[in-house]
Amino acid sequence: MPELDSSYPIGLFDSGVGGLTVMQEIMRVLPHESLVYFGDTARVPYGNKSRETIIRYSIENAIFLLEKQVKLLVVACNTASAFALPKLRKIFNIPIIGVVEPGAEKAVSVTRNQRIAVLGTKGTIQSRAYQTEIQRLLPHAHIFSQACPLFVPLVEERFLDHPATRLLVKEYLSGLHQQEIDTVLLGCTHYPLLKPLIQQELGAHIHLVDSATTCAEKIASILETQKLQSRASSPSHAYYVSDDPDKFKELGEKLFGQALPHVELLNHEKFTPFIYH
Ligand code: DGL
Repeated sequence: MPELDSSYPIGLFDSGVGGLTVMQEIMRVLPHESLVYFGDTARVPYGNKSRETIIRYSIENAIFLLEKQVKLLVVACNTASAFALPKLRKIFNIPIIGVVEPGAEKAVSVTRNQRIAVLGTKGTIQSRAYQTEIQRLLPHAHIFSQACPLFVPLVEERFLDHPATRLLVKEYLSGLHQQEIDTVLLGCTHYPLLKPLIQQELGAHIHLVDSATTCAEKIASILETQKLQSRASSPSHAYYVSDDPDKFKELGEKLFGQALPHVELLNHEKFTPFIYH
């Protein structure tokens, strides 16, 4: 492992703006940590791309963040976590945490009847990463998976309480009513923003869980074990994107109701092309 310093920032990447759900939670749980966020807005969405492409993008994103001297890497995108985490851990020698393991842990901790539904992008569902992780933790769990590919564009249109979104929530979740599930894992960065509609559709007795809080708690515990916690009284946060910083800032601020500082465009010349095989 390279020499890591507690003053280094935590790096996190997502395909775009959705990973800010995870970033917000990290800021809340770890208020002394500096963060560097990278949103790959030039290549979003990841949810319907192939495993190979997602692995390639993830490696490139990780290289960019490692050049920023991060002490821990968070893969805040569910699709990237589902497809690329093992490869990233093989290549890079710093602590790397995704959102699949924390999300699965959370779902397993709240279910009472071991009947869990997982919602995600096409890629996340096809990868079976959540299913595999839940079954590893709870071998007798019954898992029902549903890809909801139209949720991401609806959230990005800010159709959070729109008739079109209600219709699609009904359509995607229609198969779950008969399954006696008690827990639904929102396995995509954007889905927590649809919590109210999903809860209305499935009923108040269903637990809706996502990865963000458990992910932030896991990071806290890794930093503590490795003695890498920052004590900075005024940590600094930096935001980078691969396309259109103004659009990212506007959408991020509208979706999360929080002002974002300056967002920088990634310097492509410094974004070293990488040979993977
Ligand atoms: N960030 C992605 C995820 O959590 C959703 C958006 C996309 O498809 O790129 O899977």
